[in-house]
Amino acid sequence: MNVPLLDLKAQHATIREAVLPALLSVIERQQFIMGPEVEALEQAVARLSHVKHAIGCASGTDALLLPLWALDLKPGDEVITPAFTFFATAGTVHNTGGTPVFVDIDPDTFNLSPDAVEAAITPRTRAIIAVHLFGQMAPMERILDVAARHGLPVIEDAAQAIGARRMMNGAWRLAGESGWAGTLSFFPSKNLGGWGDGGMILTRDDAVAARMRRLRLHGGTRQYHHDEVGTNSRLDTLQAAVLLAKLPFLSGWSAARREKATAYSLRFQGHPAVVPPSVDPANEHIFHQYTIRVPRRDALMAHLKARGIGCAVYYPLSLHLQPCFAHLGYRPGSLPVSEGATAEVLSLPVYPELSDAQQDTVVRAVTEFYG
Ligand SMILES: Cc1ncc(COP(=O)(O)O)c(C=O)c1O
Repeated sequence: MNVPLLDLKAQHATIREAVLPALLSVIERQQFIMGPEVEALEQAVARLSHVKHAIGCASGTDALLLPLWALDLKPGDEVITPAFTFFATAGTVHNTGGTPVFVDIDPDTFNLSPDAVEAAITPRTRAIIAVHLFGQMAPMERILDVAARHGLPVIEDAAQAIGARRMMNGAWRLAGESGWAGTLSFFPSKNLGGWGDGGMILTRDDAVAARMRRLRLHGGTRQYHHDEVGTNSRLDTLQAAVLLAKLPFLSGWSAARREKATAYSLRFQGHPAVVPPSVDPANEHIFHQYTIRVPRRDALMAHLKARGIGCAVYYPLSLHLQPCFAHLGYRPGSLPVSEGATAEVLSLPVYPELSDAQQDTVVRAVTEFYG
């Protein structure tokens, strides 16, 4: 039985009646730039994420780029980021003139370690990026505490964590709610994915929101009047229409992902080789990825692929060892937990449409490999 890593066609079959008319209405209106769907989506996502402002932009990468840009980084200014994340988290720091400072992660959750953040702070530190990796929030209360003691803004990279939440000081806090700014990606494979690129910036701060709205429109609020130099980073009206139509399904999809993840973890529990993902008890995980740790990972991957089972390594090379950051002077062994994760992680198929039979096929293929 074939089990794709993600099955967007299966998802589409369940939502085409909801999405196609929404797209058609944009097409009939021919208003492709900043149509009313963009603002409607911004308001809906702001409500979902418990923030005052949500600002659509062209991608999750730009959602990081614009707030970093607003920090006005000078050469040598440092931004602390985890080493084990998607490239955009650090690439955007470089592209806005800063230097990424990579820190290690917690071996259980793969998220940024607050102690490592604190140890990496120097007089040049200008900001901290906390990534909510694979759909589980980083320990924001501790990261915010470190940041507050050093007077630093925190950007929450919630590209993989829309709607994830964490119990913080007795209250649920949504991904992207507590930082100076939060960022989302609507890349098609995300829990809320568009039919192309898209992203969003979240913030509670009126001034930050106004700045982000300017920067995404060439730095102006009135056409052909530019208060500063910005760029073109708008969320397409067509993408906003798709995302608005899909949004009502999101919480059900994330709950279904959680159910599939629990089913996997129950079956892998106690297995001598397979370490299922660890969920911090304060978190409600949305399982953008279901990522196990295993010995002989590459051989397992080949075994699964030979049986038609999709799987992937997120991420095979820690960011501090990427060739483009060689000039920063990190060496193998600099960040051992991240490096260990890159050798052992494997993400398995997890999505609402995954059938019990497909899931059983995956579990049996994994356990059969280890004999
Ligand atoms: C953690 C993280 N940050 C940033 C991004 C960038 O988002 P996009 O692909 O929409 O530019 C991604 C997307 O994969 C991501 O996973």
